[in-house]
Amino acid sequence: MVRAVRGMRDVLPAEARRLAEVESLLLRTLHSFAYEEVQLPLLEFTELFARGVGEATDIVEKEMYTLSDRDGDSITLRPEGTAGCVRALQQHGLLFNQTQRVFYRGPMFRYERPQRGRYRQFYQIGAEAFGLPGPDIDAELLKLCAEFWRVLGIDSQVQLELNSLGSAANRRAYRDALVAYLTPHRQALDEDSQRRLASNPLRILDSKAAATQELLAAAPRLDEFLDDASRAHFAGLTELLDAMGVAYVHNPRLVRGLDYYTHTVFEWTTTALGAQGTVCAGGRYDGLAELLGGKPTPGAGFALGLERVALLWEQSRSMATTLSGAMSAEFSAAADVYCCVMDAQHLAWAQALAQSLRDALPTYRIRVHAGGGKLKNQLRRADQCGARWALIIGDDEVAGSRVTVKPLRDAAEQETIAAAALAEFFAQAERRD
Ligand code: HAM
Repeated sequence: MVRAVRGMRDVLPAEARRLAEVESLLLRTLHSFAYEEVQLPLLEFTELFARGVGEATDIVEKEMYTLSDRDGDSITLRPEGTAGCVRALQQHGLLFNQTQRVFYRGPMFRYERPQRGRYRQFYQIGAEAFGLPGPDIDAELLKLCAEFWRVLGIDSQVQLELNSLGSAANRRAYRDALVAYLTPHRQALDEDSQRRLASNPLRILDSKAAATQELLAAAPRLDEFLDDASRAHFAGLTELLDAMGVAYVHNPRLVRGLDYYTHTVFEWTTTALGAQGTVCAGGRYDGLAELLGGKPTPGAGFALGLERVALLWEQSRSMATTLSGAMSAEFSAAADVYCCVMDAQHLAWAQALAQSLRDALPTYRIRVHAGGGKLKNQLRRADQCGARWALIIGDDEVAGSRVTVKPLRDAAEQETIAAAALAEFFAQAERRD
């Protein structure tokens, strides 16, 4: 049997339903903030990520799916969306001297070690704002995230960690100071950090090794290297967040794994998902447009991992249903109404009835039985797919333009209703709930 490539997950119907539900709530929120969708290619020239994300990052060094196409060009399956978004808007003249607020969504690819919440193909929803240098837009992006969590009912499960990396010059000065401090202690660093000392010293701050963390306790601090403008930007942002009621923790060690950031960086984390606790992350990247060969344009944004957000949503939702004692049948159901068709000659009638219900009740999922068979077996199928009601369509029903409605999830009696009154019957049942 041919199997899936490691880390490439098949999303089966129950999970696909959850992901789609979460995504539609997030999209509604993005629209309500007036962000516009852009659709970007999965493949880009490798150079885009090497320059944009940074040669010395884990992503570019060891996580990209890179291949030569038939012309011999080196192309890469996108590991993230920001570089491609900047490239696209730049290429189409939508960046310089303009303001844009856009979002994108879709699969990203990273060759990481797969585990729960970490995949080699995963789905991001990202938002980016261009042409706006002030902390007001950083605050808006964070408010947008906070709104996501509120809409999904997971706001008590996530916390915002925030930091400032300062300007590119501040970062360079800090990098030199950190290297000067750590170099005499090189031998005491963990293996990864020893390597990073030459390639990407700021990432040493992320090290989980106890000995490295001990050394870092007395290391120079990034916030001591920020210039006045960077401090003012960060102070402006925290003031706005306070005024908007967006809670945060200042984590002076937060540096992020992509090289394009300047000033604001942030991560939304949770303790409810084990090791893969970052559900959303981002920051400001004022130098990226220039780095990719365009005119300087400030930018800021974030991306969330849809699978992680959906896992968190599902966990808190199942906790809520357990607490209220409610059944989660509706949650796992594939259909709301299942039409049992007693005779193949009534199939067209049943399909027409189902269509009239779909038109009248657009949120309802109506499935018509296929494959014939006894009523008992059809009702079993109806039950298996989680439907709340079965409709029974036989000779008497068709002759009298009626339908027998059998409730499947509660003790109510079955009843026979005029076909024309069926949509109203369901609408009334919904109002009662
Ligand atoms: P990132 O931190 O690399 O940032 O990824 C953002 C989010 O994508 C993570 O917080 C996580 O939820 C999810 N994610 C990343 N890798 C995986 C994986 N292997 N499996 C599942 N989920 C994953 C970026 O990608 C930046 N482009 C964010 C950004 C946008 N910064 C400014 N604008």
